[in-house]
Amino acid sequence: MGIVVYPGSFDPFTHGHLDIISRAAKIFDKVIVAVSVNSGKKPLFTIEERVAMITRECCHLENVEVGYFHGLLVDFVKEKNAQAIVRGLRAVSDFEYEFQMALTNRNLSPELETIFFVAQPMYSFLSSSIVKEIAGLGGDISGFVSKGVAEQLRIKYTNKKT
Ligand code: COA
Repeated sequence: MGIVVYPGSFDPFTHGHLDIISRAAKIFDKVIVAVSVNSGKKPLFTIEERVAMITRECCHLENVEVGYFHGLLVDFVKEKNAQAIVRGLRAVSDFEYEFQMALTNRNLSPELETIFFVAQPMYSFLSSSIVKEIAGLGGDISGFVSKGVAEQLRIKYTNKKT
């Protein structure tokens, strides 16, 4: 059913992101996870660290590819010959922002569709910021991220303190 791009900042990659990717990978021929620079956010992990993190977390999914982009999402989608953008909807509060992004992207590239996956209820409260906040305060994040990601967060926050 074609190629789709799942963009985001993934700082860090959580179980909620993996849920969306795994479900999209069952439907589409190829899912390209695209790590982006969000000008409104100050990331904890570098782009390279996030690409490596997601590549490791998705290595069991054969039709998932991981990349990154600096410019417009629509240009990356075109470059990859993808037909649609995939996004996750966690709660009603996501809707307005997602609606604005989908319409903007359609305006920039009229043939481009945005497809929404409704997040599983168990991840509907999850965000990368919440995970960082808990990890930074030494809390248990094992229900939200993999062991590998939790270890990377632990190292980041240990280095920050020293
Ligand atoms: N499970 C868990 N968390 C989820 C989630 C899910 N299913 N879906 C979203 N989130 C979280 C993310 O972790 C993130 O948390 P944070 O804000 O605490 O970091 C938050 O929800 C939303 O972030 P994300 O989905 O990563 O989107 P974003 O807002 O960081 O990035 C881009 C959006 C990158 C797609 C967008 O900025 C973009 O396209 N940029 C390129 C420039 C461009 O083309 N602009 C014009 C288009 S509008």
